[in-house]
Amino acid sequence: MRVIAIDGPGGSGKSTVARALALRLGLPRLDTGAMYRAVALLALRNGVETDDESALAALAHEMDLTVGESVLLDGEDISQAIRTPEIDAAVSFVARQPRVREELVARQRAWAHLHGGGVVEGRDIATVVFPDADLKVYLTASEGERARRRASEQNAGDGSDSDAIAATRRAIARRDELDSSRTISPLTRSEEAVEIDSTGLSVEAVIEMIVGLL
Ligand code: DC
Repeated sequence: MRVIAIDGPGGSGKSTVARALALRLGLPRLDTGAMYRAVALLALRNGVETDDESALAALAHEMDLTVGESVLLDGEDISQAIRTPEIDAAVSFVARQPRVREELVARQRAWAHLHGGGVVEGRDIATVVFPDADLKVYLTASEGERARRRASEQNAGDGSDSDAIAATRRAIARRDELDSSRTISPLTRSEEAVEIDSTGLSVEAVIEMIVGLL
């Protein structure tokens, strides 16, 4: 089983890089952030509080979720619905619940076994989910660059709307703080991970660096 772990904060370019890398290597890709987002969406839709660990764990356990090029929840395409400011605001609270993480980590390992490995992106892939990954990459980018990318991703404009960027920057900083300070599986760089700062780099340049490391 060959696993390439790509961790890093929101807007660091993880998804873009993981997608291009998987294509280049002919490997499947798993976006684990989409799994936490799906649980957050279920919580919002079902009126479950984001600190109700048992109820959240039950939602995570019972959901029928397929994460591929699109994200399917009980057959519904939720690819767009999980990328809204509301989900951004709720997801860190959902992701800090130990029993939710337990369930999703088990699903991530099962996915890798089923596919014989792949490119897996998230926050704790190298540190917790696949500590024996063949390659561990920690992707970063400056806060300004990450906010610009997120703002254009969320159709808040083409990345040149300064109010949208400033608001996104504040939201990103808040989520980083929550993701890094939680007690269970916080966002941290594995000592074995190679850090790549993608600020000002093209996707191709980042891919070349990773392929070189492999
Ligand atoms: O990568 P993303 O922005 O889609 O991740 C959404 C949230 O899920 C983020 O706030 C942190 C959490 N997450 C996590 O705790 N562990 C992962 N492996 C992936 C994401």
